[in-house]
Amino acid sequence: MSEIKNIGLITSGGDAPGMNAAIRAVVRTALYYNIEVTGIMRGYEGMINGEFFPMNRKSVSNIIQRGGTILKTARSEEFKTKEGRQKAFDQLQKHKVDSLVAIGGDGTFTGAKIFIKEFGMPILGLPGTIDNDLIGTDFTIGYDTAINTVVDAVDKIRDTAESHDRLFIVEVMGRDSGLIALRSGIGVGAEAIMIPESKTDINALFKRLEKGRKDKASKILIVAEGDDAGGAFEVAEKVKEKFPKYDTRVSILGHIQRGGSPTCMDRVLASRLGVAAVESLMEGRKGEMIGVCNGKIHFTPFKNAIKHISEVNPSLLKIVEILSL
Ligand code: F6P
Repeated sequence: MSEIKNIGLITSGGDAPGMNAAIRAVVRTALYYNIEVTGIMRGYEGMINGEFFPMNRKSVSNIIQRGGTILKTARSEEFKTKEGRQKAFDQLQKHKVDSLVAIGGDGTFTGAKIFIKEFGMPILGLPGTIDNDLIGTDFTIGYDTAINTVVDAVDKIRDTAESHDRLFIVEVMGRDSGLIALRSGIGVGAEAIMIPESKTDINALFKRLEKGRKDKASKILIVAEGDDAGGAFEVAEKVKEKFPKYDTRVSILGHIQRGGSPTCMDRVLASRLGVAAVESLMEGRKGEMIGVCNGKIHFTPFKNAIKHISEVNPSLLKIVEILSL
């Protein structure tokens, strides 16, 4: 058992629905075990600038259902420098913080990994990103909410597409990852999805559209923002050129995917991970991201968690093809 007395808590990188549920779980679990929690605003940036405050039961009341993060978030350039990290460490010492829980994505864990190496501070990470692109967890906090937001939006687009016999190209988030596109694409019955993990063959896409049922009124193509064919507008140009008869429209869903009240799945995931983070720090663990794999809590060293996922489950891609007949 390790003598953890004061856990610093940050959210960092892009926000994700369910981060607040994770914050609540960390704070309440720490208090349960008589450990103090220091909230740090704006991620590593706030750590450098000394934006610290003590957290209690009340500071996390009525937040489990709220999107965003009450601790706010930022992407810090200064933390990438040795001087910046030294300033952050000095601030932690000044506020008697002896351990950290960092909720975020690959940038957050890359920073944490270097910080542990330089200062030896025990840090554990919780996967908080809508992109679901971290190794060592089946799902990240925020992903389920984001794909449900996409499904909700595209169902609405489908109504109007069907009424006008239109083809819609819908762009979803995922600068480096197609996992939002993949699952939401299956969920909305998309005709095709385009993701960065698989090379988009635009001619194969055209063939599929040609082969597709002629009596099908609406068509939905889901494009991940990082796809190699370009964004939705570029794909639309190519489709219009090839099929001038299609009444084609573009819809870019954008940051609505990052907001909103977390789904129950995300709240439960965040709660489980928050409890595990505190208990694991007490057990002396550090340098790991905590996830859930096959229903069980799973630990992955930061260096492995941040390796980019370059492949998606091919059977899910095949499902899109089979079911879009
Ligand atoms: O949170 C991850 C992510 O949503 C990516 O999919 C997206 O490319 C990126 O964040 C955009 O973030 P921002 O607008 O904050 O730069």
